Amino acid sequence: MEANEIQEQKEYINKVSNLNTGKKLKYHILTMGCQLNENDSEKLVGMLEQMGYKESTDASDADLYLINTCCVRENAEEKLFGKLGELKKIKENRNIIIAIGGCMMQEEHITQKLKKSYPFVDIIFGTHTLHKLPEDIYTAITKNKKVKDVIDIDGKVYEGLPIKRSNNRQASVTIMYGCNNFCSYCIVPYVRGRERSRKPEDILNEIKQLAKEGYKEITLLGQNVNSYNGGEGYKFANLLRDVDKIEGIEIIRFVSPHPKDFTDDVIDAIADSRKISRLLHVPLQSGSTEVLKVMNRKYTKEQYLSLIDRIKDKIPEVVFSTDIIVGFPGETEEDFEHTLDVVKKVNFEQIFMFIYSRRVGTVADRMENQIPEEIKHKRFDRLKALYEENIEKNNEKYVGTNQKILVEGQSKNNEKMLTGRTDTNKVVIFEGDKELIGTTINIKIVSQHRWYLKGDSRDCP
Ligand code: SAH
Ligand code: SF4
Ligand code: F3S
Repeated sequence: MEANEIQEQKEYINKVSNLNTGKKLKYHILTMGCQLNENDSEKLVGMLEQMGYKESTDASDADLYLINTCCVRENAEEKLFGKLGELKKIKENRNIIIAIGGCMMQEEHITQKLKKSYPFVDIIFGTHTLHKLPEDIYTAITKNKKVKDVIDIDGKVYEGLPIKRSNNRQASVTIMYGCNNFCSYCIVPYVRGRERSRKPEDILNEIKQLAKEGYKEITLLGQNVNSYNGGEGYKFANLLRDVDKIEGIEIIRFVSPHPKDFTDDVIDAIADSRKISRLLHVPLQSGSTEVLKVMNRKYTKEQYLSLIDRIKDKIPEVVFSTDIIVGFPGETEEDFEHTLDVVKKVNFEQIFMFIYSRRVGTVADRMENQIPEEIKHKRFDRLKALYEENIEKNNEKYVGTNQKILVEGQSKNNEKMLTGRTDTNKVVIFEGDKELIGTTINIKIVSQHRWYLKGDSRDCP
């Protein structure tokens, strides 16, 4: 059934492309969300380009302006409504199609607000109707009417959408959609539907094709990648082992695993691989067992720390990154100290820190013991200070070592210098020839500068 739906949209692509012939139309896209959202945008762009729209880097001359939204935290809303204020002025002067899609459009109170206060928006589509962009654009152009194409379902998996990737060496591949975990603070399960996995052969074929096209680095994406279920007992560990065998791919990353599902077979698959990054993202959220329980995370502080130890036992060179929320309802000073304690113990290489943000419809939003803004901010600053103190300490261990890096491009500030990233995602800057861009090379790290490392490629094989 899904295949037919895609076929139908391909026909709309042709229809819109015929309407647009000779018009030299341009699109501009603004992506506000996570890597999954960015991967969706690559598909939206794939469809737009097939419909005859060319990319415009300058929003002011776009004929179609598309916003792919996120709603995981409140600041995304402010950003969207600010942008719409600007677009209203453009729309008053010329006929531009404004389309808004993505997670935030799955929220009823938001689409109501758009309808009432931003009636000039032409197309609203949700996460389950992304593939119908061609039909929505066709309707907006030919019937000259507003389109709202949002449905609330558990979700399906669509294969075969066109895609235009934003980078030609590193690619993201979504392996599963949706989330079943319902962490009490999180809106994602409500806007992305239930977990559903792509078939192993579809994923592996996509990656083999990417390898043929010269891609070196692959990131496997999902809200909870280690609950991937390819059917007939084929799990995330099987997928990792199969991706690992694909020739040409040199670096494999994945985000995000859930600590509760980080099983030994996954750890073994990483340990056995020479390609899977030694930077593992293991979202902590809180270091307090009490808070974790109310968050519905299904692990304790001790279980998290023992998972880290289990991974380190099998992969001694591993380092970790994490996500932490401060100021969750009811978080006491003591709870927060537990978070700081885990940060000290694990010595994270990278921490993505968030101030708790109330999300309409979630369990935590209905809790009465919300933390005052001022306390949330103070705790955030304390966590940040601890993290920054650790960065330089962490960087020191690289100085004098040889690191394999993927060379990404020239440095913005100095043409003679190249930039790349280590397997553990550290930015390295070094002198080198442009020809090296796109290759993986060995670099000797000579010094550290908090936000980057300096390297020397001369002594390395
Ligand atoms: N599925 C991924 C994360 C998705 S959202 C996972 O479970 O790791 C990315 C991060 O945003 C989360 O890890 C969490 O730290 C943060 N986040 C989610 N909801 C939030 C909220 N309501 N307020 C603040 N941060 C939030
Ligand atoms: Fe949100 Fe939790 Fe699902 Fe991650 S695992 S998307 S934090 S509900
Ligand atoms: Fe945001 Fe949706 Fe991703 S809410 S974090 S764009 S899944």
